[in-house]
Amino acid sequence: MSEEPNATGVMVVEPMGNAGPFLAEAADRLGLRLYGATHRDVHEGYAPWLARALAGVCFTDLTDPDRALDDLESYCREHRIGAVAACWELFTPLAAALAARLGLPGNDPALAQAARNKIAMAEAFRTAGIPVPAGAVAADAEQAHQAAADAALGWPLVVKPAEQGGSWGVSVVAGPDGLDDAVAAARRFTRAMPHGLPLDPRVLLQSYVPGAEYSAETVVADGVPYALPVVAKDTTSGRYRVETGHTCPAGLPPELTRAVQHTAARAALAVGIRNGIAHTEVKIPPGSHTPVVIETGARLPGDNICEIVEAATGISEAVAYLQAVAGRLPDTGATRERAAAIRFLLPERAGVLELVRVPDVPGTHSEIEVRPGDPVPEPADSSGRIGHVVAVADSPAEARRLADRAIAGTRLRVK
Ligand SMILES: Nc1ncnc2c1ncn2[C@@H]1O[C@H](COP(=O)(O)OP(=O)(O)OP(=O)(O)O)[C@@H](O)[C@H]1O
Ligand SMILES: [Mg+2]
Repeated sequence: MSEEPNATGVMVVEPMGNAGPFLAEAADRLGLRLYGATHRDVHEGYAPWLARALAGVCFTDLTDPDRALDDLESYCREHRIGAVAACWELFTPLAAALAARLGLPGNDPALAQAARNKIAMAEAFRTAGIPVPAGAVAADAEQAHQAAADAALGWPLVVKPAEQGGSWGVSVVAGPDGLDDAVAAARRFTRAMPHGLPLDPRVLLQSYVPGAEYSAETVVADGVPYALPVVAKDTTSGRYRVETGHTCPAGLPPELTRAVQHTAARAALAVGIRNGIAHTEVKIPPGSHTPVVIETGARLPGDNICEIVEAATGISEAVAYLQAVAGRLPDTGATRERAAAIRFLLPERAGVLELVRVPDVPGTHSEIEVRPGDPVPEPADSSGRIGHVVAVADSPAEARRLADRAIAGTRLRVK
C-alpha cells in the first residue's frame, strides 16, 4: 500500500469481492490509498492480505442506505477521499449515491438501481433500444405460469432472481412442469450474505437466447465509453448454467468483436455508468450478427477475468477502473498479444472432497480453494467451485487446450 500521505484515497464500498485483489494491486500501482466500507463482523472474516491492503475502514450498516451514506460521507470527508469505487454488485447503487453526495466522479444515482436489479435493468435496456430477450416479471409460481403464457416467451425459458449473482437461483426450464421448482429456486435466498441485504423477491422470466456467450468490460470516463477486450465464456449446458471457464481473446472475427464491444458500451451507458466500469454478458444466436445482452453489472468482472485479460493483453482493467473513478483518463491500450484461459474445477456432485490433484502442465498454474475434508455443494452455481487452472499461450486455441489438458488430468474425488 502506498505510504504517500497526500496520495488520493479511494473508498471501495465492500472490497471483499472477486476483484478485490486486482483493485488492491491497481491502487498500489497508481499510488492511491485504498479504504474500505463494510460491516464489523464481515471485516473479521477478511483475508489477511485484504485487511493489510486497506489504509482504513469505515464500519457501517451497508443494508441501511441512509445511515451508510451519512457514515460514509463523514468518513470520506475526514480522510480526504477523492474517489469512490465498488466491488460488490449489490452495493453499486450505494457507491453511485456516495460519489454524488461527495461531488466526486461516479455513476448516475437515478439509474444505478438498474445495474443491480435485473428487472429495472431490463426496463433500462428496453428504453435504450438495446437487444434483450423478451421478459416478464412474476411474484410467485402462479404468476410465472400466467406470465410465461401471456408474454409468449416459448420454451425453454430462463428463470432468475431479480437480484443475485454467481448464477445463484438461475435455471433454464424446458417446459411448464419445471416452472414451480425454478421459481422456488430463484426465490430461495431472501437476503444476500454476508451482509444480510434484503433482496427483491420477484423473479424475472426471459426467453432463452441460444448461441455462444461472451463478456466485455467497458470503462467509462466522464461519460465516454472505452472498450476492453472481449472474453469467451463457457458454461455447463443443462438446467444450471454455471461458468466452466473464460478465454481471452474470444477468437471472434473483428466485426463481431466490435459488435460485442459496441453493445456492451450501450448497455453500460443505459444503466447510468458515467465514471466507472461495467461487465456485460451477451449471447450471439447462431447465424446472427447481433449480440443480445443477458446482463450488465457496474463493477469489475468476477471469475478472475481481470487476470486473464491482463495476461492476454497487458491491460489492467482494475487500473483503468480506478483511473476512471479518480477522474483520470483510463489506460485501455493493449501492450501484448497473447492469449489466456481459465477453467474452473467443478465437482460432479455434492459431497466431501477427498482428493484433488492438478497435473503440472507447462504454461498453466492452478489454485485450489477447497481442502480435502471440506464439503462441496452440488455444482448448481459458482459456489460449487473447487479451484481453477489458468493457461497462458500464443493463441486462444492453445490456451484452451493447455487449460483443458490440466483439467482433464486432474484427479478429483468426492465422497
Ligand atoms: N435469457 C437467457 N438466455 C440464455 N441463457 C441465459 C439467459 N439468461 C441467463 N442465461 C444463462 O445463465 C447464466 C447466468 O445468468 P445471469 O448472468 O443472468 O445471472 P447471474 O447470477 O448474474 O450470473 P453470473 O453472476 O454467473 O454471471 C448466463 O451467463 C447465461 O449462460
Ligand atoms: Mg451473469
